[in-house]
Amino acid sequence: MKQLNIITGASRGMGLAIAQQLCQKNNVIIGLSRNVSQELAQTARTQGTNLEQWPVDLSNAMPVAQQLHRWLNQFNPSTVEQVVLINNAGVIGHMGPLTMEYAEQTEQTMRINLDAPMHLTAAFLTATRAWTIPKKIINVSSGLARRAMAGSAMYCASKAGLDHYSRCVALDEALQTNGAKIVSLAPGVIDTDMQRALRQGDPSGFPDRQNFIQLKETGNLLSPEQAAQKILAYLARTDFGVNVIADVRDPV
Ligand SMILES: NC(=O)c1ccc[n+]([C@@H]2O[C@H](COP(=O)([O-])OP(=O)(O)OC[C@H]3O[C@@H](n4cnc5c(N)ncnc54)[C@H](OP(=O)(O)O)[C@@H]3O)[C@@H](O)[C@H]2O)c1
Repeated sequence: MKQLNIITGASRGMGLAIAQQLCQKNNVIIGLSRNVSQELAQTARTQGTNLEQWPVDLSNAMPVAQQLHRWLNQFNPSTVEQVVLINNAGVIGHMGPLTMEYAEQTEQTMRINLDAPMHLTAAFLTATRAWTIPKKIINVSSGLARRAMAGSAMYCASKAGLDHYSRCVALDEALQTNGAKIVSLAPGVIDTDMQRALRQGDPSGFPDRQNFIQLKETGNLLSPEQAAQKILAYLARTDFGVNVIADVRDPV
């Protein structure tokens, strides 16, 4: 299926693997991260994919959302069969109790993990309102949106917010003609820079550190490529959007 894909955090980790797997002929991809990936650019060239990588900082997402809105307004939707927004970029934030010295990091984490998906989703929904092709949004959530963990209040709160935000958008879109389908999707545990950061947390404020070390040592992490496959398999499910709060491990 020829698809327009907008994906945040496409420069590395799972987002890069998703973008790589979406690099198929005739697909259009916009990657949004601070850095651009030469590896992704090379794959796109080889596969004949129309790729744009926008070097943007999603801790200040409002101008990025405006840029996306303008770009979508000039795009001809009859050239694709489906349009997809994947809000994947995320940061772990401070690992430890939330004290005042981490105020700036709290703001930064909430901006990237929650504000940015909200601004980009608003731009996406506004610009595509009259489009009649299927519209899908994946907000990359986490098991930690649904299970509290000590020393990770910023991350857990941002992802729980993303889940509840997605529930509300789903209700709003159900009232629209040809509304978008939205899923807040937990991707499993993946061997990326984010996991590296968890393994390096200070155990005095982050008691679960040893569990993350063990997951790595026992080979229980998904590779970014495996995780990307699961995300894209979920996107292709015929029941996509029926359960707004989902996990790639949910049975079909
Ligand atoms: N890894 C796991 O085990 C795990 C588990 C559950 C959920 N998740 C979720 O899965 C998603 C992907 O995680 P990952 O493990 O692949 O993370 P990662 O390897 O740390 O990659 C994070 C991505 O987000 C982008 N990003 C970070 N800050 C940004 C900013 N200010 N502006 C724009 N882009 C920014 C990074 O690009 P730049 O540095 O180029 O900006 C990068 O592409 C996240 O939402 C994460 O919360 C991960």
